[in-house]
Amino acid sequence: MERAILNGRKLAMGVCYYPEHWPESMWRDDLLRMLDTGIEVIRIAEFAWSKTEPEEGVFTYDFFDRFLDLCDETGMKVIFGTPTATPPAWLTEKYPEVLNADTDGHLYRHGARRHYNYNTVVYRALTARLVTKLAEHYARRGCIIGWQIDNELNCETDEFHSEADSAAFRVFLKAKYGTLDALNEAWGAVFWNQTYTCWNEVHVPRKTISDSTNPHEVLDYVRFVSDSARSFCRLQADILRKYIKPGDFITTNGMFGRLDNHQMTAESLDFYTYDSYPNFAYCLDGWTPDDPGLRDRGWSRFLSEVRSVSPLFGIMEQQSGANGWNTRMEAPTPRPGQITLWTLQSVAHGADYISYFRWRTSTIGTEIYWHGILDYSGRENRRLAEVREVRGKLEKLSPVAGKPYLARVAVAKDYDNVWDAGLDRWHGRVADASETALYTAAQRAHTPLDFVYLDHTSPEALKQYEVIFCPHPVIMTPERAELLRQYAAAGGTVVFGCRSAYKDLNGRCVMEKLPGLLAGMTGTDVPEYSLIAPDAGTVTIRWGEDILEAAVFTDLAEPVGDGVREGVYTSDYYAGSGALVSRPEGAGKVYYYGTAFTEQAAGVFLRKLGVSEPYGEILELPETCELAVRGDGNRRYAFILNYLKTPAEIRIRRPVKDLLTGKTNEGTCVLDPYGVMVLEM
Ligand code: GAL
Repeated sequence: MERAILNGRKLAMGVCYYPEHWPESMWRDDLLRMLDTGIEVIRIAEFAWSKTEPEEGVFTYDFFDRFLDLCDETGMKVIFGTPTATPPAWLTEKYPEVLNADTDGHLYRHGARRHYNYNTVVYRALTARLVTKLAEHYARRGCIIGWQIDNELNCETDEFHSEADSAAFRVFLKAKYGTLDALNEAWGAVFWNQTYTCWNEVHVPRKTISDSTNPHEVLDYVRFVSDSARSFCRLQADILRKYIKPGDFITTNGMFGRLDNHQMTAESLDFYTYDSYPNFAYCLDGWTPDDPGLRDRGWSRFLSEVRSVSPLFGIMEQQSGANGWNTRMEAPTPRPGQITLWTLQSVAHGADYISYFRWRTSTIGTEIYWHGILDYSGRENRRLAEVREVRGKLEKLSPVAGKPYLARVAVAKDYDNVWDAGLDRWHGRVADASETALYTAAQRAHTPLDFVYLDHTSPEALKQYEVIFCPHPVIMTPERAELLRQYAAAGGTVVFGCRSAYKDLNGRCVMEKLPGLLAGMTGTDVPEYSLIAPDAGTVTIRWGEDILEAAVFTDLAEPVGDGVREGVYTSDYYAGSGALVSRPEGAGKVYYYGTAFTEQAAGVFLRKLGVSEPYGEILELPETCELAVRGDGNRRYAFILNYLKTPAEIRIRRPVKDLLTGKTNEGTCVLDPYGVMVLEM
């Protein structure tokens, strides 16, 4: 049974709609006007619990029945959201234990959203009952094509400190460790006399001096938060699966911290959808005029993360107006062309479904400034006109549908390290610096780049990459090391950065010589290491003819076995010590780079490893334009995106067809401000 969207045949357009925010008399016109704009799908209901269960155990269906009747009648397709992100007032008043709490244990009260916790038995029971009722009643409706679970799991906060969470944390830990002795050992609880003698002494992290709780405990807590969110999603998915029609899908939206999105998608969803708001780059309070970063182009990095979860994905909420809660997040209205640019940015990275947030701007509540396509009055406006034009563009881009993004370079990650980097300053510093540097350098060198999660990939899948950067796998396991070794042995190049492999899965430091489990594979020994001293100035490394700028940290990296010294430090007291070692591994090569990446150094690596500007023979682009490529064995589609409000000049070295204009482009071409070109190559 073919899916209505993400079916590999076309790029579909949708919008988020809130029938509960508007008089019923407006519904039909709104639907017809959306359809006329080219919007064929709407997402509804994700905050409207009380419309179905206004009182505990009393279920009424007529509100959405009346609305869905109109959808059936007009031909509008519907993604139905389960409304569990906003428990009703009757529920939180009667069962305050369902509320989430801050580190002090103070409950988050009714009035905003996402104030519940995933673990209260009663919330899970009420959720299961409501989802069952919704699915029983609505799942067979012709207009419904899919379901969205909750809304943005772990958005607003990814910390949970309620009593129910402590109880569930104990269950999680008992299953993991069996005995308190094993837990005490794993957590190094002998340090500062933290040893537990009874399970009830164990809690989710609470207020501590200096906000510093046992790091091994907090790492397990983050895993527990992820498991809790996943299990809440699974609870709903398992119910929905029993009722949905063949061909209908289950998804969820957003992409937030402390959540193994890969595992959640594998066990509960058909595909992932992301909410893309590049206008955050223009928020008034975050704006720094000389920021050298990628700004809205930086959303490509998040889209690349989404792609690692679902190679083809949807955008459930795509920016279509200004940002703004009445209390925070002020950003201007997108300039003419930016809605199109950001839409095609999503498409360039693998989105085959684009749903705008939202049709009409809310006249009520916290989000009165978070604008949709239409303003409060609903009058015809510039943004609606632009969305209409996008429709035409998406039609022209239909050959792209179903084609994956193509990259020959990847950054390898895993959740243990992502989460540890979020908790550990030394780790976080190198991880943040390197990932930003690698992504930015690849962007500027027009080098498509993927993220791969090592626990969710295969040796087969890794073969598409010529180079894999694994910048700082502080926590290393024999399985991940072996996967990367096999990849190299088969002809790939792996580049590790400093601080690799000095912790085990509990986040305890290992006592082997560094880089621990990677010492053999990298042919490297690290006799000494340090944070770069604040008074060190610019620390540099010579690698052949190139001088690289080090960042954050220096491992002195000396070759052992068949390792080869490739680079040396040229600064500070370690001048002359090794900084870069390589070692042949089968048909491939492994590098150990003793520092974190700067954008400059990352650029040198891409060039020296022969993966920079892979389309340079055809396209000459300014650094300020992004290049993204989707395609398959037969055809490639190159998206060139200009994020600036000034035109960009590009050179095309052989005649290629522009999918959007149907013309053949060659030679010097001008890309409009915020313009996008899609070339068939
Ligand atoms: C998303 C959310 C929407 C809306 C939007 C604008 O995070 O899913 O419901 O809140 O942001 O704030």
